[in-house]
Amino acid sequence: MPGRSINKAMLRTLWINMMTISSSTIRIDEQEIFFEAGQTIMDAAMAANIYIPHLCHYPGLPPSGNCRLCVVGIGNRSVAACITPACAGQEIRNNTAELNEVRKVVTQMLFIEGNHICPTCEKTGNCKLQAIAYFLGMLHDHFPQFYPHRELDASHPHILLDRSRCILCDLCVRASREIDRKNVFAIAGRGIQAHLIVNSPSGKLVDSTIKVTDVATTICPVGAILIKEQGYQTPIGQRIYDQRTIRETAQQEYVSAKAKNDAD
Ligand code: SF4
Ligand code: FES
Repeated sequence: MPGRSINKAMLRTLWINMMTISSSTIRIDEQEIFFEAGQTIMDAAMAANIYIPHLCHYPGLPPSGNCRLCVVGIGNRSVAACITPACAGQEIRNNTAELNEVRKVVTQMLFIEGNHICPTCEKTGNCKLQAIAYFLGMLHDHFPQFYPHRELDASHPHILLDRSRCILCDLCVRASREIDRKNVFAIAGRGIQAHLIVNSPSGKLVDSTIKVTDVATTICPVGAILIKEQGYQTPIGQRIYDQRTIRETAQQEYVSAKAKNDAD
């Protein structure tokens, strides 16, 4: 207000505002962003349009912390951004050469652990693992291939499950439980023995309650769960990651999930 001096009440209001701002912000790569109570670093980053590479995180689903691609640095610690709460004053490193190199090694390990032969996989161009590899500049697998032989379930008339491509991200498990309300999938075993199982009397998809329209059927980031006879409906060259980067599609997923959440 022109001509009016700042009085004590105004100073107090200003101080409270400043304290509120500093107590609800974090910095990611020098950029200060707000967060809300209960948000993870990933949540706050996505709300501020900052991309932290991820595979097992999906907006609107509870995090699992499985893939470790979202590794970020805080001081001398490395943490998974999708399961680490945002706390006031955190100084976070994200888009650094060192962290992207760690992410690239994680991606290489995911590639060799399963049968991710992109030129022969019908998910090519729509696959998040492949898109992350491009994003991180991965040019080769580096490690020896495992070439695993895991059970393929082609029992369902419309849905295929190829466990040799499963990266155990747990997304289908969470989507089936949290969105479809069915619990069709679970992960059994630990470490190298961990594998995806189907909750049905025979252990086969055909005897489960899964439907083509379930979110669990379409959320798989790789070519492990596929809808039959649709693989080549979209020609190669016109697929998701032929047109947009994984960074752009991640933001689109966040915006859609937020719009849905706001509407509910
Ligand atoms: S089948 Fe797909 S969605 Fe399910 S755990 Fe494996 S990679 Fe993830
Ligand atoms: S996205 Fe955080 S561990 Fe997978």
